[in-house]
Amino acid sequence: MRVLPISHYPNDSVLRQKAKKVPTIDSSIQRLIDDMIKTMQRSNGVGLAAPQVGISLRVIVLQMPEQEPFALINPEIIKRAGEQQVTEGCLSVPGYCGEIKRSAEVEVKGKDRRGKIVKIKATGLLAEAFEHEIDHLNGILYIDHIENPENLHNVQSNEAD
Ligand code: NI
Repeated sequence: MRVLPISHYPNDSVLRQKAKKVPTIDSSIQRLIDDMIKTMQRSNGVGLAAPQVGISLRVIVLQMPEQEPFALINPEIIKRAGEQQVTEGCLSVPGYCGEIKRSAEVEVKGKDRRGKIVKIKATGLLAEAFEHEIDHLNGILYIDHIENPENLHNVQSNEAD
């Protein structure tokens, strides 16, 4: 497993492209998933989408606190309900966080890493992460959902210069 370089807004145009569907889940996709999981974990992220590592394919990985990581291929949101106010950041938009609205509940359909069709119902952080990562596959960033510029904040870094 390799840690992959992360694409950054606004320099990497791949973040604004609509990613392509994965036609076949072969060993190259398995390897991509493993590398994406390692990259997400190294950055302490809860999710990562393939365009964030420069690959314009519909693959996402997620990991909720205290849980196992998992991948979803060609994911689609098939139901949304309710609303939640959240504060989000993104590994591709370093140094910022912002307050936006997400669905409180979603149902997502896709394929797992073995190619099995799965449906997942999610609420709270997992629902938010699914919407955030699936947005990436459509070239959308969380900052696009910010209604008022006052809701985008600089994150103070504790690291020395
Ligand atoms: Ni992101």
